[in-house]
Amino acid sequence: MIRLVFIGFGTVARGTLQILRDRAEFLRTTYGFEAMVVGVATRRGSVQAAAGLDLTALLACDSLEQYPDMSGIVRGASIPNIVESGDYDALIEVSATDLSTGEPAITSCRAALERGKGVITANKGPVALAFRELSDLARNNGAFFGYEGTVMGGTPALRLAREALAGCQITAVRGILNGTTNYMLTQMEAGQSYADALIEAQRLGYAEADPRGDVDGHDAAGKVAILANVVLGAELKLSDVETSGIRGISAADMEMARAAGERWKLIGSAVRNVKDGTIRATVRAERLPLSDPLAGVGGVSNAITYQTDLMGAITLIGAGAGGAQTGFAILSDLLEMHRDAGR
Ligand code: HSE
Repeated sequence: MIRLVFIGFGTVARGTLQILRDRAEFLRTTYGFEAMVVGVATRRGSVQAAAGLDLTALLACDSLEQYPDMSGIVRGASIPNIVESGDYDALIEVSATDLSTGEPAITSCRAALERGKGVITANKGPVALAFRELSDLARNNGAFFGYEGTVMGGTPALRLAREALAGCQITAVRGILNGTTNYMLTQMEAGQSYADALIEAQRLGYAEADPRGDVDGHDAAGKVAILANVVLGAELKLSDVETSGIRGISAADMEMARAAGERWKLIGSAVRNVKDGTIRATVRAERLPLSDPLAGVGGVSNAITYQTDLMGAITLIGAGAGGAQTGFAILSDLLEMHRDAGR
């Protein structure tokens, strides 16, 4: 039985909790995987139970204070108190991403890994800003570090590169890594204005709390930094990613691309220079010919193309966000941790 502590109680936490509740029997009988949630904490409060929280009661709460009083319930411990207690097997870090500092998530991940506890996160901050330090800590402490949900939600972009393409040299990564801007560009191509397309993307829940992170390319840049470091073995900082967004694209630009048989896409890429091994990482709007597989990816979907030596180009298309989808990424990391423990 794996004991989990969640940091964060938003869309991704709920998506994960729902999967753990609804698939408990399937996960037990198929994979021998059993988990209980012994704590959930946010900046505003926490609830803990050594014997496990009731997931149905938890999912019925809008905030943690609403969790019913039952015997064995402890309230009010801070995030550092809970993380440093070590009374859990894996920390599920799903608080909101802060790409400026990566905090408080980096501190939580570090504290858990130092104690030999597993860490699974969908928060881009720790992986974009502190991947090397945290993966070294995990290795040195024999702890699992999972971060599949940081790029393309539950679409297995990182796992494809790390596992299925192991043995190939991946020389370049290029993708549509932000659903909000891809949705907006698709709508603008159909005649909607930039402003209306952005409002629509916010209404549909695609955009970050501050949508400048989407339209100015910073969300995609965080994912490019993760891909460069995880897949290409670089040591890039976020500031190394040359970043621009889609703000300047006008209806006239859309029309010119259409007339030329092309399509605007916000492309994140990390490319290794074969001569000196350096990596160039960019996020910028590009006009793609319709023959490019990324040109055909419309709406909120994400996609990634890996350029490999043995297999040529491989493109993966799928959802890039969402509670159930990113919850699946957390589950896939939990199952990997479970498999590792059995080896
Ligand atoms: N706002 C992001 C997007 C969510 O639109 O892709 C996932 O990082």
